Amino acid sequence: MLDIKAVRDDFPILKQQVNGKPLVYFDNAATAQKPKVVEEAIKTYYETINANIHRGVHTLSQLATDAYEESRKKVQHHIHAKEDHEIIFTPGTTFGINLVANGFGALLKAGDEILISALEHHSNIVPWQFACERSGATLKVIPMNQKGELIMEAYDALLSPNTKVVAVSHISNALGTINPIKEMIAKAHAVGAAVLIDGAQATPHIKPDVQDLDCDFYVFSGHKICGPTGTGVLYGKEAWLNKLPPYQGGGEMIKTVTFEKTTYACLPHKFEAGTPNIAGGIVLGYALDYLNQLGFDNIQAYEHELLTYGTQRLLEIEGLHIVGTAENKTSVISFNIEGLHPYDVGVIVDKLGVAVRTGHHCTQPIMDFFGIPGTIRASFSFYNTKEEIDILVEAVRKAQQMLS
Ligand code: ALA
Repeated sequence: MLDIKAVRDDFPILKQQVNGKPLVYFDNAATAQKPKVVEEAIKTYYETINANIHRGVHTLSQLATDAYEESRKKVQHHIHAKEDHEIIFTPGTTFGINLVANGFGALLKAGDEILISALEHHSNIVPWQFACERSGATLKVIPMNQKGELIMEAYDALLSPNTKVVAVSHISNALGTINPIKEMIAKAHAVGAAVLIDGAQATPHIKPDVQDLDCDFYVFSGHKICGPTGTGVLYGKEAWLNKLPPYQGGGEMIKTVTFEKTTYACLPHKFEAGTPNIAGGIVLGYALDYLNQLGFDNIQAYEHELLTYGTQRLLEIEGLHIVGTAENKTSVISFNIEGLHPYDVGVIVDKLGVAVRTGHHCTQPIMDFFGIPGTIRASFSFYNTKEEIDILVEAVRKAQQMLS
């Protein structure tokens, strides 16, 4: 069980007023707030061991290198990767997907197929379009039903020996649908395809076990799991990371350089060119410690309560329709109100202190499927409360009165 009052005390930002009202932060799917332990760790890093890593013989450089590598091990243990060099630090999910898609762009050929799903964020669509343009491969899309669930029979029918990559989100950012990825990974492997899982929206709620899932790549962002912005992780099975070409050239990723030829460093350095976000990478480990201390079982159970309560309360509002009603979903509620534009509702609830995201949520194909310009999205985190949901409901009612 979480002690929510104590948890909220860990997040100073939640105590502030916005537009003269207590802040209700329901835009957690966009980015999570940071606990004090994370803020303090950033300050401590810069005040005590700031130096470049993997380069200097001097003490600070070694301390910073050790802290960075220790954080890599924390990530490894968190997602249960076999090896620490299978953890590549990145600036975020988008970078990780681009890195992998770029690699496949070099490996694939005409006739090969890449499968994505109808639920993807633009960052798991566009990089694969680049890969297709470059290689001549074809992009195919697993369709969804009206609840926002992927249609597994259609997935089965799309899989073939031509399928070389399947790239799907663990959880949809726009609708909250939790995809049956373990089953999807096994099916993709049965036809010999590699699988990338976009875990950006899952990692705030679920502790993934990459060996149990047996995914070939798993990517996520630090800022959505209470870590700093500009941090992220690409997990890849060692064999695949060795097979993919480097993404960026520069310092750190090389073994030898002459003007004629360069050989590459071993993993993980092959994919970490240039000076990384050292403080961010180190502090990401503190964010994971914080979440693990709360316990993902506790987080999930509490967020599920918020989802159930929020769904029930919002549906009391006449003319409100929830978009995305999957049986298996996380604490994201996307909705629309008859006759109102999501943007107008978002602006009014903000004036009442409530932060929600409005628009297409970087998922235009999902909005096209439902024939809507966008939604109002409330995404709950473990530090939110039922009282805050009541405030959201009142704010939405007020917006409805003002705009009708
Ligand atoms: N992908 C993030 C969201 O869904 C930014 O809001």
